[in-house]
Order: sequence, then C-alpha cells, then structure tokens
Amino acid sequence: MSKEIITVIGAGEMGHAIGLFFAFSGHPVRLFDIQPHILEKAKESIEKKWEVLKRKVRMEKPAGDTLHIVYTDKMEDALRSADLVIEAIPEVLEWKADLFRSITKIIPSHAILASNTSTISMETLSGSVKTPEKFLGLHFFNPAEKMKLVELIPSSHTGTAVMDVARHILENAGKKVLWIRNDRPGFAVNRMIAPTQILTNAILEEKMIPPEAFDAHFEKLPGMPPFELLDYVGLDTAVHTMEYYQKHLDPAFVPGGYLTDKIQKHELGRKTGSGIYRWEKDSPVKRDASPDPDLGIRHVKAIMVNEAYRLLKEGVLVSPGEVDYGLQYGLNNRPLMKGITQEAMQEMIQSLEYLADRFRIEYFRPEKSLTNGIDP
Ligand code: NAI
Repeated sequence: MSKEIITVIGAGEMGHAIGLFFAFSGHPVRLFDIQPHILEKAKESIEKKWEVLKRKVRMEKPAGDTLHIVYTDKMEDALRSADLVIEAIPEVLEWKADLFRSITKIIPSHAILASNTSTISMETLSGSVKTPEKFLGLHFFNPAEKMKLVELIPSSHTGTAVMDVARHILENAGKKVLWIRNDRPGFAVNRMIAPTQILTNAILEEKMIPPEAFDAHFEKLPGMPPFELLDYVGLDTAVHTMEYYQKHLDPAFVPGGYLTDKIQKHELGRKTGSGIYRWEKDSPVKRDASPDPDLGIRHVKAIMVNEAYRLLKEGVLVSPGEVDYGLQYGLNNRPLMKGITQEAMQEMIQSLEYLADRFRIEYFRPEKSLTNGIDP
C-alpha cells in the first residue's frame, strides 16, 4: 500500500527535520518554503543527516536508498496531492492565519491540516481554517527527526476519525503520541519545565547565588544545566517565552531586570558570545564553583511535579503515567511520577514552601492535591 503524501510548509529548523523524518520512514514528502535559499539549505542539511541516520538504523530497519522529497517554492505544487499538511512557519499568529486562509482553498478535500505551533491555541487557529474538523495540532520536539514524542492537540472541532488517522500515520512512522486533552498554554511537556524559568529568573534577581553554583548540581546529569541552557537557547527566546506564559498562564512568569537588561545590551547568550556566561567556541566559560547547598536538583524536581499536578487538575493529561511518558519521549527524562513515596512527597512540599517563602513567589506553593496526599 502506498504511504500518505506529507506536505511540510516552512523548511526551517523544524520543517526540514519533520520532512526528513517522514521521508526516512518511506513517505513521499513535499517541502515548501517561500525562500528558495532556505530550501537549498534544508536540502543540504537533510542529505547530511540522512547519511548519519542510515548508518544508525541500518540494523533496525531497512532505510531504503532514496528519500522521496520534492523541494518547492510553489505552493500549489506542494499541496496538490497532499494527504497530511504540516505547517511549520514562524510563531506569528497573523502569518499562520493568513497561510491557512490561502491554503484551505487549495488542499485536497480529504487532507488533514496540522500546525506545529508550540504555543498558539488550536481553538484560535481553527478560526482561519475552512474545515476545522480536519485541523489539529501536531507538536514535534527538536530535533524532530530524532525526538520520539509528538503531542497531538485537537480543537473542539477536530473529528475523532481525523485524530485516529493522524495518530496512525505518526505511530506507523515510529513516533510516540501524547494526546493533549485540554488545549492549555505550553501543552504538556513544555509546560512541565516552564516554571523552572521562574526559578532561574528569581536566582538572577536575588543575586545571592552565582549561576555556576546552581548549574554545578546538574553538570553530571544528561542534558544541559539550567543557566547554560538559557544561554544556549538565547536569552531573547527565553524572555519571549516567559512573557507568553506571563500573559496566558500566570503573572509570576514576569522576566526580571537582569534578563531584560541583557536583552537591551544584546548579550543574548551563545549566539552573541555572552549572556549569563561568556561563550567561547560554543562552550560557556564557567568559574569553578561548588554546588550551592540550599538550592539544587530537588527543587527543580519538586517544581516539575507540582506543575504535573496542575496539568492533571486542568485536564491537560489524565494520568501520572502520561506525565512520565511525555517526559521520557519529549525530554529523554526519567519518570518523575512513578513510585513517588509519601516521604518523597513531603520533601517536595518542603522544597516548594521553601522556594515560595525565600523568593516570595506564590506560584511555587504546592498544589492542594499534593499537600492533601491525594493520588494524582
Ligand atoms: P524557522 O524560522 O526556523 O523556520 C520557519 C520557516 O518558515 C522559514 O524558513 C520561513 O522562510 C518559512 N516561512 C515563513 N512564512 C512562510 C509561508 N507563508 N509559507 C511557507 N514558508 C514560510 O522556525 P522554526 O523554529 O522551524 O519554527 C517553526 C514552528 O515550529 C513555529 O511555530 C515554532 O513555534 C514551532 N516549534 C519550534 C521548535 C524549535 O525548537 N525551533 C520546537 C517545536 C515547535
């Protein structure tokens, strides 16, 4: 049976990797961008990554000899025979809405339309789509050809059959799907780590702990330590994300003077050579520091678990198992919720109360269901 034709709109950071992922699993792919030089760059990057992928998975499954990708800057060519269209253009509501208004006139009537937005609500976006019952969010994680998880976000109009088809296509191609039951800011996985930014921001504002002394706790763990990660992602992006959550989730996400001052000075982290740290050859220059005795991993864990309880309360996810599934496949993290003991819970409550008192931030207070010892 021939595989569904996948059209990806936008061949940037995410779009080209989503295209590669589907082509690698045998789907014919159309990659469309309005900028021809981005298409050339995408082609170069896809061919490089394809060589690496072929070597890696040769033992697991036959990868085939060719990728069937058409690179095009002609919208009609990209959409004409599509079965699933995935939009991956910049995170600007008006741009996405304009695009949807023009493409819904062209796409085949059976085609499913999806957005890879990381923040905008499906309800809002579906207002610009002619057939909202065939529209949903498919949120991939970066790098999309490698990270297993895709969050599947229906709007209230999305048809169940459409969700089943989308899930089926993704799972057949090798992804793990997490169904977001309530379309809240950050969906599930990004939301779980979002309040860590309130903490890093508070540490920078308090000026009592050098970033190195906090990061020192995380140096031996997989993934980047929190302050290094902020610099790596870009302080401008970090502030932008905080402002989004400040507006749509809670005022506690307000970025402080330290970060806004850095943005004004254009010290944005790795990409400008200095941010929280100075950067040399893509690595941060850190002073030697011993791990701070009062603040560390247990506080970050407590913050994440607290946020997971909020996600369950808000009905974004329905079980602790789903929280762990998202963490495992979206962040390569170990489970957080499985087997939490009463003792561990008490420690988390203490950590959260400590953070709330020390930084005078109520958002850190433990959720009621956590303090009442209710199973999530
Ligand atoms: P990007 O800026 O790297 O790429 C966007 C591409 O869209 C550019 O190549 C641009 O030329 C193209 N484009 C703009 N308007 C277009 C139009 N009307 N038609 C066709 N192409 C158009 O952006 P990136 O980072 O790939 O983000 C894309 C989407 O994915 C955003 O919604 C973002 O929030 C989301 N996302 C990003 C992640 C990341 O780590 N970068 C992770 C998960 C989701």
